[in-house]
Amino acid sequence: MKVVAFNGSARKDGNTAILLERVLEQLRLEGIETELIQMAGKKVHGCTACMKCREKKDHRCSGLNDFGNDCIEAADAADGIIIGSPVYFADVTAETKAFIDRLGYVGRANPEMLRRKVGAGVIAVRRAGAVHALDTINHLFFISEMIVPGSSYWNLGIGGPAGSVADDAEGLGTMDTLGRNMAWLMKRVSDRA
Ligand SMILES: Cc1cc2nc3c(=O)[nH]c(=O)nc-3n(C[C@H](O)[C@H](O)[C@H](O)COP(=O)(O)O)c2cc1C
Repeated sequence: MKVVAFNGSARKDGNTAILLERVLEQLRLEGIETELIQMAGKKVHGCTACMKCREKKDHRCSGLNDFGNDCIEAADAADGIIIGSPVYFADVTAETKAFIDRLGYVGRANPEMLRRKVGAGVIAVRRAGAVHALDTINHLFFISEMIVPGSSYWNLGIGGPAGSVADDAEGLGTMDTLGRNMAWLMKRVSDRA
């Protein structure tokens, strides 16, 4: 079993990455393979509504040729998906939303692609907007027939400057619990048929 975590932050190895790594560590402890994919510095264009995914139904976005395609391919191959984003203006980053729109539309064209995969959102926030951003990610999971584990709090960590989320003990604990619950759930729904 494999979980791929996507970091939609413009800042590589920043607060969102720290939170995602914390979840991934718990998954590895449970014997689940993990990968962190960071979008910082990469091009992830928004959906162009070309509708080619609806014609081809091949689990791919063939209307664009950018890093977003690599992310869709990785999500297709994974058993579990984590989407992490910092809060930008009370929502996810533009790259995260572009990925959500494209993965979501490819998933609509191929309903079996994401069905019963386990998904979790993770948010880094300085002050406000985290729950709204988390909701944005969950909208993708719930319309894609995915299964979403909970944690001991909403999946967020508080930090402004890069690295400062490491001082948010409660946020880190929330990530640990999320990782354990995600592993627990994945072991029980591994038969997606
Ligand atoms: C363009 C931009 C917009 C932001 N908007 C918000 C916001 O609405 N609310 C908030 O609490 N923090 C906001 N922040 C701060 C980031 O969410 C915060 O620093 C976060 O920890 C960054 O995570 P990262 O290191 O993974 O990029 C914003 C930062 C940027 C660059």
